[in-house]
Amino acid sequence: ETILVLNGPNLNMLGTREPEIYGADTLDDIAGRLTERGKELGVAVDVRQSNHEGHLVDWLQDSQGWGVKAILLNAGALTHTSVALYDAIKAINVPVIEVHLSNPLAREDFRHASFVGRAARGTISGFGALSYMLALEAAASL
Ligand code: DQA
Repeated sequence: ETILVLNGPNLNMLGTREPEIYGADTLDDIAGRLTERGKELGVAVDVRQSNHEGHLVDWLQDSQGWGVKAILLNAGALTHTSVALYDAIKAINVPVIEVHLSNPLAREDFRHASFVGRAARGTISGFGALSYMLALEAAASL
């Protein structure tokens, strides 16, 4: 079984991007740890990133045919703007877990709304890279 981990805009810059908010780990560092923990949990982990909304929509749609068990989705800023991601999550039968490194509710007002969260099975926010690990535990146990 596979857990898909989708990352949106600017998450390719983790490690150098506002490290006081997002931490020093790169997305590759996080992917490595997810893959290791996945082995222990008996799931394959497929980590992807795109700065383009349409790529994320395509991956959400296509995941249905891939036999994916669950999806972790950190949509970055698209979390707060994208009705297209909301619709795509609603359109598929695969459970989606919303993930954030920071806690958007404790930040600027424009981060308080989440289109992803409205369609997701649940949300894990605010624990840095650990948010992904906690979400993997949840995904593997669904
Ligand atoms: C983020 C939070 C978003 O508000 C922001 O636009 C990001 C990262 C997070 O993981 O904390 O790009 O999704």
